[in-house]
Amino acid sequence: MKHAFALRDTNPAPARVKVPLFDLSRQAERFGPKLNQRIAEVLQHGRFILGPEVEELEAALARFTGARHVIGVSSGRDALIISLMALGVGAGDAVFVPAFTFSATAGAVVAAGAVPVFTDVDPATLTMDAEQLERAIKRTLRNTALRPRAVIPVDLYGLPADYAAIEAVATRYGLSIIADAAQSFGARVGSRRVGTLAEITATSFYPTKPLGAFGDGGAIFTDDDQLAQAVREIRSHGTRGSGDVAMRLGLTGRLDTLQAAVLLVGLEVFEERLASRREIAARYQRAFSGVVGTPPQSALLCSAWALYTIRTRDRDNVRGRLAAAGVETGLYYRVPLHRHPAFAGWLTGEEELPVSEQAADEVLSLPLHGGLSEEQVDHVIDAMLQAVSS
Ligand SMILES: Cc1ncc(COP(=O)(O)O)c(C=O)c1O
Repeated sequence: MKHAFALRDTNPAPARVKVPLFDLSRQAERFGPKLNQRIAEVLQHGRFILGPEVEELEAALARFTGARHVIGVSSGRDALIISLMALGVGAGDAVFVPAFTFSATAGAVVAAGAVPVFTDVDPATLTMDAEQLERAIKRTLRNTALRPRAVIPVDLYGLPADYAAIEAVATRYGLSIIADAAQSFGARVGSRRVGTLAEITATSFYPTKPLGAFGDGGAIFTDDDQLAQAVREIRSHGTRGSGDVAMRLGLTGRLDTLQAAVLLVGLEVFEERLASRREIAARYQRAFSGVVGTPPQSALLCSAWALYTIRTRDRDNVRGRLAAAGVETGLYYRVPLHRHPAFAGWLTGEEELPVSEQAADEVLSLPLHGGLSEEQVDHVIDAMLQAVSS
């Protein structure tokens, strides 16, 4: 969700209404005086690393999600690496990841010393397809000396993956499940919140995420006491408590106190923000269904709507017309992971990922954030309807 693309206006007449894909410039203003007060408190006590706000945030996130343990960490990518390390995943291990996600999902696997194996996604939800996962596991067992150890389903655009189906496969092969919930903090499956849907969950507080900090940040959620202890040690150079002896290998992986203070203020208004994203998404759904491919809807799955992503074969033209109308859009993701040069060394040559490849040609994310005015939402809808009919 990073990398908002700079768009060139192809229309000589300037667009009447401008709609940015994200708008973080007014975030501090929307948080009000509470924010300055929280920041001033941190500046006063000076405990910038693992200060009291970090523990306060962890407790608040545990209450919010229902997870037994929450550990604040330095980013979403580090949350994945630390989770893999806590599970003991490393050299010689295969970790199954969807091919259609942000590069950090597979990058974390490589950083932990394991091998990412790319699997295809479901054409309706664009999240990991459990049948394809099983095929990839069987292929790995048949053709390589790698040990299948873990799977990382990704809650793409804020929609929880199909954890029930993935768990059935993972259990058959003894795989751990690490949820990549970088985009889905706040989402639910029925009454179960993200953070409790897998053995261990990694989220991101990157500024454009549903719960965003004013810098990098992330968190790990688990009900497992031993995993939680391992995560706490790994995020702090592998040390225990305030000790200076490394009990295991670790990282500089802590959430900093200032970000925790910002997130505490954000969490207070988070439900409200989620509701307003849901409302805008519902308006888009009503306007666009039957016109272009729209995100899946179900009574059980409640997305955090990190991104509102439509699908159309005419994507690049539609994107150009929207840009001319002042509507900024994003491509998440333009290139599936098995086509990234960084992962070329980990390919087996047997990757068959047609759904991911087609999705990469068709997806287009529209502005969806709390800062959008009624007028801007109307404008996005009008501009989209015009763009697809021209
Ligand atoms: C699916 C996914 N995984 C991992 C990450 C990494 O998060 P971060 O940028 O906080 O490291 C992101 C976001 O950037 C993401 O979208």
